[in-house]
Amino acid sequence: MSAVPFSKISTPLNALFATIGLLVVATLTRQGLTGQERLVFELLLAAIWLAYVLQLSGTLLSRRHRLSGGMPALVIDLLAVLVPAAAFLFVGSRDRDLYCAIWLLKPLRDSTFFRLLAKVVANESRNLLGVTSVFGIVLFGAALAGYVIERDVQPDKFGSIPQAMWWAVVTLSTTGYGDEIPQSLAGRVLAGLVMMSGIGIFALWAGILATGFYEEVRRQDFVRNWQLVAAVPLFQKLGSAALIEIVRALRPRIVPAGVVICRKGDVGDQMFFIVEGRVTVATPDHPVELGAGNFFGEMALVSGDPRSATVSAATEVSLLSLYAVDFQILSSSSPEIAETIRKTALERRGRPPKE
Ligand code: CMP
Repeated sequence: MSAVPFSKISTPLNALFATIGLLVVATLTRQGLTGQERLVFELLLAAIWLAYVLQLSGTLLSRRHRLSGGMPALVIDLLAVLVPAAAFLFVGSRDRDLYCAIWLLKPLRDSTFFRLLAKVVANESRNLLGVTSVFGIVLFGAALAGYVIERDVQPDKFGSIPQAMWWAVVTLSTTGYGDEIPQSLAGRVLAGLVMMSGIGIFALWAGILATGFYEEVRRQDFVRNWQLVAAVPLFQKLGSAALIEIVRALRPRIVPAGVVICRKGDVGDQMFFIVEGRVTVATPDHPVELGAGNFFGEMALVSGDPRSATVSAATEVSLLSLYAVDFQILSSSSPEIAETIRKTALERRGRPPKE
């Protein structure tokens, strides 16, 4: 029973405990702490460790009941408990608190961002590897050229290729500590070229990652929308080409219970398909409830008139909205669906339907 609530609160707790734990680890490295202060901080670390033991049992239980938590979560939970325990047993008192820094991994456990990042890096690995190779080639070339140009002027800094490599890294990354500066004109021209290459290479890395993120998010949106669209009976007759088109056009939205989705008299620029939940249409005679598989907001699109009624969420409702311009495209690509929507709009205008 305890596994479910614990796994629900674990995300904010992980962030909070990890932050406190890491602050304590950092504080314990300060000089001049009294024995009593040390004891308080170490007790705090022990309390967090105990909470992580509880969380590990929660993860193990939820895995047993197939509730949640993939392999990475389990590995992180295990490391968070075992590494500090092993350090306590086998490492000297000076360094053992440092091993609690393993808790740095805790926030990764539930983060969808890091999962997304891992996917992007995996998808773009070939391109990233390509740019990394260019980085390596330019780095070695710069160190070689720096060595040839500067070895006689500054043998202590550029006396060998490995020595010149440090200058090459600092220059290529445009960090420029200034501890090694080419003295000759040729050396300075080389430094300028290396810096420019560095900017180009980092821009390439950033560009590949940004495009990778964009494409992955779009792909995930597409898959999620596809599943939502498949839940609407009206779209089940569509062929795959039309379905792809509609999946791209529809925008998912979750509306909490009680919120007004469209108000009578407003201009209507979109219609809505209900995936899950119910809405209430405040018609003049009596309110009408529409549930999953139904749609609303079509009358304004079909006629161009203002909204005929106020529609609000009776429960939390998952919707797919279709803008007027996409409705026109749908009308030409799937005339039967557009016809069904038009017929429903006419029926609703003519009489209060018995849904
Ligand atoms: P629209 O006029 O664009 O915005 C309000 C929506 O409420 C309307 O489109 C219909 O989709 C819906 N609606 C209006 N009247 C009825 C009705 N009698 N029964 C069911 N739905 C209705």
